[in-house]
Amino acid sequence: MKRDTKIVRGQVQPDPTTGAIIPPIYQTATYALEEVGKDKGFDYTRSANPTRQTMEEYLALIEGGQFGVAFSSGMATVDSCLKLLKSGDHIICSDDVYGGVSRHFNQILNNYNLEFTYVDSQNVANIEAAIKPKTKMIWIETPTNPLLKITDLEAVGKIAKSHNILFGVDSTFATPVFLRPLEFGADLVMHSTTKYLSGHNQLIGGIVITDREDLFDSLKFIQKTVGAVPGPFDCWLTILGLKTLDVRMQKHNENGIQIAHYLEGHPKVERVIYPGLESHPMHHIAQEQMSGYSGMISFELKGGLESGKALMNYVELCLLAESLGAVESMITHPATMTHADVPREDRLARGFSDGLVRLSVGIENVTDIISDLEQALEKA
Ligand SMILES: Cc1ncc(COP(=O)(O)O)c(C=O)c1O
Repeated sequence: MKRDTKIVRGQVQPDPTTGAIIPPIYQTATYALEEVGKDKGFDYTRSANPTRQTMEEYLALIEGGQFGVAFSSGMATVDSCLKLLKSGDHIICSDDVYGGVSRHFNQILNNYNLEFTYVDSQNVANIEAAIKPKTKMIWIETPTNPLLKITDLEAVGKIAKSHNILFGVDSTFATPVFLRPLEFGADLVMHSTTKYLSGHNQLIGGIVITDREDLFDSLKFIQKTVGAVPGPFDCWLTILGLKTLDVRMQKHNENGIQIAHYLEGHPKVERVIYPGLESHPMHHIAQEQMSGYSGMISFELKGGLESGKALMNYVELCLLAESLGAVESMITHPATMTHADVPREDRLARGFSDGLVRLSVGIENVTDIISDLEQALEKA
């Protein structure tokens, strides 16, 4: 079966009792047992729920992995992956991760004696150089949020394997339509399902996929013990979103490429960051490991912060909003919104200026998005 067919259909079969094509929502907390010690595979929804299980299996299939474990948000997923570690462990992390991830690592997990080293993972030599005897995990985001840095996953996979270090990838921006990190040696692939996977700004959720049964068992144990689980209705909405994932991603990508070129040619634009542009320093790796570049673009205007702010205030079709990956185009000011908790000097050190604008290109007609940017750029 071709990948796009697999994405539309998943493993979901019509419901055997009614023929319903869309699986039912099992909106229940608990399940009646037939007798003591005998259930039908479900006893309490914190441990397992049929709608959640359908979504977990669907996402595992699309990602090309064996097991999926769902959580109530992308952040709860990251947290659960890190709970695979123990106090005293050391983690090497991409320097340009989503601001909520670095906030979690630096302001919560470091209180539990986990130590983090941030490196520019575009240069994999930086990862190798940061390895210590107590390094237990390499955590890569690719493309990163918001600078869209690209990491060579095959090279990192080899390093992780040779040092016996867990290798986790946050693949939220790429989606399994364009990138499947398990193929490059990742042990864990996570997504904020809030973004492209559910795709319609309708829920908060997360998933981690693995081929390793030992990691699956540990993550299931964390899931049922900590209880940061998504509700059945959110899982069902995610299933509906997944059915159109491939067509949505192709359109995000098509629009993304056109808008990145449009911005690059605009006299008021200082620089455009998009992995599909030849000017991106890691374009060759993106081309090799991804089959599309997705719909996320970051750029800076020649007028810096003031012009960037004006642009974000003048857009009409593009929504000024915190999130990404939905059908609507959304524009964000990372320094004051998604990455507000990242210290300014850290941001500037990694080339993330106050004036950086992040655009999540939606699936509207591309000429309408460009006209909107054009009228806002004129005033900016
Ligand atoms: C790359 C990335 N990972 C993780 C998250 C966290 O996901 P959530 O907002 O679903 O908790 C985000 C949120 O923006 C993100 O951009």
